[in-house]
Amino acid sequence: MGTMFQLRVSMECSERVELKKNVERNCPHGEVEAGLLVWDKGFVAKEKFDVVLVADCLFCAHLHSELLHTILELMHAGSKCLVLAPKRKGTLDKFLALLEQRKGELTYSVTQSVTEEFDKKLEAVKKSPFFKPDEHQPYLITISPSIVKAKS
Ligand SMILES: C[S@@+](CC[C@H](N)C(=O)[O-])C[C@H]1O[C@@H](n2cnc3c(N)ncnc32)[C@H](O)[C@@H]1O
Repeated sequence: MGTMFQLRVSMECSERVELKKNVERNCPHGEVEAGLLVWDKGFVAKEKFDVVLVADCLFCAHLHSELLHTILELMHAGSKCLVLAPKRKGTLDKFLALLEQRKGELTYSVTQSVTEEFDKKLEAVKKSPFFKPDEHQPYLITISPSIVKAKS
């Protein structure tokens, strides 16, 4: 039995054209839909997703509460959010502190291991003289909501 996944991708305006081209090139049958999503405290999700992926988006600590609000808005009670980010100048720890404050609404865990394949590739990358752990060593935060909708 085949399974069809529909994937939604968000991006900032400047990256829109490039990502749209990538999506058209790699998924010509419409399996992937790309659109703009701006983190905002007033954001109201029109639909909820089983999995929310957040790749390298913690670098602006002053936007963490907007980002977290947006993440929680996109989730239903059974969703999972996977956040992958490096420590980068204390920004990961600041986001973890925010998650800790919101523990009534969500549960979370953090690990340095992602998948076996990813970890193996990272070991090779770490040998590069350009590898800076603070900027390049990713951590995986998994967030699940305790309640459907978060208060801001
Ligand atoms: C370091 S990039 C990561 C891009 C991509 N996820 C990746 O891993 O290649 C951080 C992204 O956050 C986006 N961003 C920053 N502030 C944002 C906001 N308020 N709403 C939506 N996206 C934002 C930037 O446009 C950028 O695409």
